[in-house]
Amino acid sequence: MVSSRLVSHVSRGRPTSDGGGVRLTRLITPQQGLDPFLMLDEFDSSEASDYLAGFPAHPHRGFETVTYMLDGHMLHEDHLGNRGDLKPGAVQWMTAGRGIIHSEMPQQVAGRMRGFQLWINLPGVEKMKAANYRDLDPEEIPEHALSDALIKVIAGHCQVAGSEDITAGAHVGGATEPLYFDVALGTHATLTLVTPLHHRVLAYVFEGTVSIGAQLIKKNELAQLSHGDSVCLTAGSEPARVLVIGGKPLREPVVHYGPFVMNTAAEIEQAVRDFRSGQLTT
Ligand code: CO
Repeated sequence: MVSSRLVSHVSRGRPTSDGGGVRLTRLITPQQGLDPFLMLDEFDSSEASDYLAGFPAHPHRGFETVTYMLDGHMLHEDHLGNRGDLKPGAVQWMTAGRGIIHSEMPQQVAGRMRGFQLWINLPGVEKMKAANYRDLDPEEIPEHALSDALIKVIAGHCQVAGSEDITAGAHVGGATEPLYFDVALGTHATLTLVTPLHHRVLAYVFEGTVSIGAQLIKKNELAQLSHGDSVCLTAGSEPARVLVIGGKPLREPVVHYGPFVMNTAAEIEQAVRDFRSGQLTT
């Protein structure tokens, strides 16, 4: 290994609400410039009133959304006629492209609802491509199993440093070549994962604690990492779970307005006009 990534910044999310009034924690905002990532929301509540309103029909243009359910049951429906049942462990990979109109509604009136939604930017040349939707059932998410760690490989290639063993994720490739791993570590387990040298890589601890280099990352903390060809994760005195998310920066201008993310203000105005006139998805 040439260089192990270190922690360059640690932050906690901000409580907010979105959709019909769903309470969530926003871990990344478009204003932070964490290219190619635009947004990362975590929802986690056992209070039905926090999530019952769901996300009624709304549009998107110019990027991809990746929804990962840990607990609960949501139904996705979109203008293309897709219906996706999101149950624990399932992933929905949606490429809004030129336009999608969809809803995400809870299919439960009690119990815990927990998961993440990540927004990944698309390069200008792909922002107007046809919309696409993929539903991945839990059994379609490959697992990379080790003696004291289990990695759900949602996107990208998972490889432990020093091993030839590579697990390809459920989603591979694309302009930003995203990595999306749900890493479960046993008590005091240490794991070094290979990461493309120039990818931006983030780690979000959602159970236990994890050390990266000399830095301890607590539960509900997001670590931004320096460049490097690997990241070494060490769990503390209880089992830990951490999302490791990576992507190739696009280095393009980002203009964000609500559910639209384009390169220029004129393209945003066009998106608003297209939505109002019913042309967003045609
Ligand atoms: Co949406």
